[in-house]
Amino acid sequence: MSSDFHVKDLGLANEGRRRIEWAESDMPVLRQIRERFAKERPLKGLRVSACLHVTTETANLMRTLQAGGADVVLCASNPLSTQDTVAASLVAHDEIPVFAVRGEDNATYFSHLNRALDHQPHITMDDGADLVSELHKHRSNLIENVLGGTEETTTGIIRLRAMAADGALRFPVVAVNDSMTKHLFDNRYGTGQSTIDGIIRATNLLIAGRTVVVAGYGWCSRGIAMRAKGLGAHVVVTEIDPVKALEAVMDGFQVMPMVDAARVGDIFVTATGDINVIDTHHMERMKNGAVICNSGHFNVEINLPGLADMSTGEIVQVNEHTQGYVMPDGRTLYVLGEGRLINLAAAAGHPASVMDMSFANQALGAEFVLRNQGQLENKVYTIPEEVDREIARLKLEAMGVKFDTLTDEQVNYLNQWQEGT
Ligand code: ADE
Repeated sequence: MSSDFHVKDLGLANEGRRRIEWAESDMPVLRQIRERFAKERPLKGLRVSACLHVTTETANLMRTLQAGGADVVLCASNPLSTQDTVAASLVAHDEIPVFAVRGEDNATYFSHLNRALDHQPHITMDDGADLVSELHKHRSNLIENVLGGTEETTTGIIRLRAMAADGALRFPVVAVNDSMTKHLFDNRYGTGQSTIDGIIRATNLLIAGRTVVVAGYGWCSRGIAMRAKGLGAHVVVTEIDPVKALEAVMDGFQVMPMVDAARVGDIFVTATGDINVIDTHHMERMKNGAVICNSGHFNVEINLPGLADMSTGEIVQVNEHTQGYVMPDGRTLYVLGEGRLINLAAAAGHPASVMDMSFANQALGAEFVLRNQGQLENKVYTIPEEVDREIARLKLEAMGVKFDTLTDEQVNYLNQWQEGT
């Protein structure tokens, strides 16, 4: 076992291993990739530095890359999302150096990113682009070794596209989130279920009959709105994009500006990727007892410093995940998970079944970068559509679902233009 790691307690390793195996049993596509990787060793000698949520599902990705011959290190992509049992198991059972302790402060978080970069990666693997950003800002001497990277999430891809547009991005990156087998499933069904799970674990509130305000109507917010509705909530959606707002209306949700939603909401969830989506003037209007949380990548969507300033300073610590801010007018507003990703802060993140496809894209994305080294530009790439479709096909096969194929006659019909009315 390497002595270079920082986890909470290696004594948690056996529990971590059992949890990792439980997740693995619901990750059939990644399992198949791992079996192929073990035979072909396509990543032999490749150093990978990964900055991902340290969960049971991520552990299975790390073990897949390792089976492919990669030399992997892992750090957390969020201070509150690490599962300490998993971190311990990867170190103790898989000899994978991990730098992640749940609840680490910001300085430790960044020191962990740097410990992962000390590995001198050929490939970076990110969830939110903090690793790539740190590499470009403070460790640019390491960039000459880097063949490319992969990025998991919408927020990270927005940052990377901004870097590419500025001419600042110095290696190619595969946008895993852009794969259909990622965002249509992980963002929608994964975030939908795990966000509601986080809210319920933190509060045990009954969702039925309550007004849930969902900020944004991207794939993540759609999932949250859909699942809240399924539990009997009145769902209000806020949006800035007219097309998405219209979709939300036609999906049966009430759409209104946040200033109006603020007055009627019982539970607020943000998933927009933007800053101060719930701001002080919204919180001024909220009802006593309103619950506010975030499921977007960064903890900037709720103006927490503003909330602290407008409160009396008295905090009611209801439980590990729920803090009440007492207002001068006597109201208390409750914030969950310190405004960080509620699905990982208070629950276990997305279920393995959807991470199976996301991480199949990560593993194949790393292989894509390696296979195409020297041929890619310093920009953001999407995984080839055939690979994306193959992941969906493997998933259906594992689920025992059969589906149709076109007949020759149908192929010919689609390829001609003469036949019409
Ligand atoms: N992001 C959301 N859920 C996750 C999970 N279970 N593992 C890794 N990253 C995640």
